[in-house]
Amino acid sequence: MNKNRKLILFIASTLDGYIAAKDESLEWLFTVEGEGDNGFSEFYDTVDTVLMGKRTYDWIMKHEVKEFPYKNKECYVFTRSMNEDTDDVKFISGDITHFVNQLKSKDGKNIWIVGGGELLQPFLQENVVDELIITLAPTLLGKGIPLFREGNYQTNLFLKKIRNFNQFVELHYEVKK
Ligand SMILES: NC(=O)c1ccc[n+]([C@@H]2O[C@H](COP(=O)([O-])OP(=O)(O)OC[C@H]3O[C@@H](n4cnc5c(N)ncnc54)[C@H](OP(=O)(O)O)[C@@H]3O)[C@@H](O)[C@H]2O)c1
Repeated sequence: MNKNRKLILFIASTLDGYIAAKDESLEWLFTVEGEGDNGFSEFYDTVDTVLMGKRTYDWIMKHEVKEFPYKNKECYVFTRSMNEDTDDVKFISGDITHFVNQLKSKDGKNIWIVGGGELLQPFLQENVVDELIITLAPTLLGKGIPLFREGNYQTNLFLKKIRNFNQFVELHYEVKK
């Protein structure tokens, strides 16, 4: 446990910066030849809290038919609409940066931003993201749902580590504060 828990984006992207096709398909991701679980469980063990936007949550609920995948973590879904909390997630509206800063000030492991790009944008603008771990697929989609939305930010990064999982390249950056 530490009081300096980090907010970390861990996400897969195409080389041209898309996290899903326009129709939200991730078929381009699942067909890449990786290695093991491509670093997922190693990262997953370092977090106890999971954040996502409502569209990412909806995608999970539509596609993960067996059970909610992050059951053993504290999971928050950001939305501007009214939703009833479930056994697995709490819905959060209002000042999302304030909420995240409160989370960061509590004891705990690191906090994972699952995505998507819309949720990430205000976090970059408010400079609350500490690290980015981006797993690049050897794919160009040309169009799709962007990882990085246009916004009022310039984020300077420090490259901590690069490794590859067969055809995937994992880029691990720290945000310079
Ligand atoms: N490649 C990967 O590793 C990866 C990872 C994650 C997601 N994805 C994909 O990315 C797609 C979704 O990404 P996205 O960028 O379109 O959407 P997103 O960021 O997941 O969700 C957007 C939604 O989050 C809520 N939201 C965003 N900003 C907010 C704020 N400031 N305050 C309160 N609520 C806020 C809103 O929900 P309401 O409309 O309910 O108000 C908004 O419609 C999905 O297809 C998913 O599968 C891919």
